[in-house]
Amino acid sequence: MAQAKTTRLSRQKHYDNLQAMFRHDGTVPPAGVLEPGFEDIDCASVPTSRYTSQEYHEREVANLWRKVWQVAGWAADIPEPGDAMTYDVGDVAALIVRQPDLSLKAYHNSCLHRGMRICDGARGLKSLRCPFHGFTWGLGGQMKTLPEKWDFPQLDEAELALPQLQVGEWQGYVMVNPDPAAPPLADYLGTLPAQWQDAGWDLTTRFKAVHVTKQIRANWKVAQEAFLEFLHGNFVHTNSIVPAAPAEAMRQDVFVGEPHFARGVGIAGVLTGEGDTVQAREQKAVDHFIAYYAPELADSHAFDVAPGETAREKIAEITIQKFRQDYGVDLSDLNRFDMIDYVWYNVFPNFMPWPTLGYPLGYWFRPDGGPSNCTMDVILLLPFEGERPPSAERVVVGPDEPTEPIIGAIGRILDEDMANMERIQKGLEASATGTVNFASYNEVRLRHFHRTLATYVDDVGES
Ligand code: FES
Ligand SMILES: [Fe+2]
Repeated sequence: MAQAKTTRLSRQKHYDNLQAMFRHDGTVPPAGVLEPGFEDIDCASVPTSRYTSQEYHEREVANLWRKVWQVAGWAADIPEPGDAMTYDVGDVAALIVRQPDLSLKAYHNSCLHRGMRICDGARGLKSLRCPFHGFTWGLGGQMKTLPEKWDFPQLDEAELALPQLQVGEWQGYVMVNPDPAAPPLADYLGTLPAQWQDAGWDLTTRFKAVHVTKQIRANWKVAQEAFLEFLHGNFVHTNSIVPAAPAEAMRQDVFVGEPHFARGVGIAGVLTGEGDTVQAREQKAVDHFIAYYAPELADSHAFDVAPGETAREKIAEITIQKFRQDYGVDLSDLNRFDMIDYVWYNVFPNFMPWPTLGYPLGYWFRPDGGPSNCTMDVILLLPFEGERPPSAERVVVGPDEPTEPIIGAIGRILDEDMANMERIQKGLEASATGTVNFASYNEVRLRHFHRTLATYVDDVGES
């Protein structure tokens, strides 16, 4: 009981500190961001078998990946009629096709003749033709050509439409659900779209500047969970994020009645160092930001902090200058929170969209052939002026290769996380207790995730 009270008080102190940092800044973030969300989730530990067992992996394939709404890609990758992309997870293979009316349809990527994968993605298709024996469908999924028709007296062309997955779009992302009986995407997302709308976040105004598929030797949840908490910051990110973004400047939110999403909020340009004069501390935060994100300005004194100025003001100035120089985009009217701070939502089961420009990221995790391997797709979404630039090509990065050369400074943070993955997986496989334990507040999003995961995977009979 006393312990619960201490936990509650510590959490409140954390919230108060964070609000003080916002107040200190003098600019106002979107109203919904100021409000913390918390639910005392009774999921203090889970079995390590969730990460290591082949049987659990197979249950996920059957009861999670085949049943849930999930991100399949970035919609602007297939802008024109006949453009197609693929999405694969577990034994689900989706072929998503832009229609003549610019809506999307998603098909199971498996030929109705003898099962061949129909397409690996393409631009400007007129029809969908299986490369094996030429069975051909229209973009709308109706059977168009059945070669050697006389030889298939048992098949009726009218009944040979390609089976569909449910498909939808949210914030520029393509979402699919293989289960035709699943409730619609809008029901699944709950109040998430409204939260984004109230905050004025709209990722459809961005373009995909980078796309990496990083291969990881760990369970997909091991990889994802490193991005659902920042307790590891002081041990893993001491040289990158922590000096100017300590855990005290981040908040973890879960919302009562919302099983499918949660949120992190972080404030840029604050330090926890004691002892310095305020101005020196502010300068240190600016110097750290420059060293990390704008090393070309290292010798410039253009962003020195004068008495009474704050690091956040200077970081905003640097950000405005960089976006103007690098992308020809003028951010000067943008709310400072949306410009330099960061919000990282996680949408169950595997999707993390970041709405602000502090870290303009999106990523999603998938198992890759079993419980011990996964991939993480990372995209960078940047604003643009005028015509939308074409989406970047996807680059596959092997398990031992860094992402920094492709993603830039943010990739360095990612690489710090990646360095741990295989080691965590090995440790889980060697666990003597067979359980992992979650913090009440800092790992509340892990508790929230696992509670929802259990409703799909554990609390159902064999399918
Ligand atoms: S398997 Fe597709 S046409 Fe034969
Ligand atoms: Fe990390």
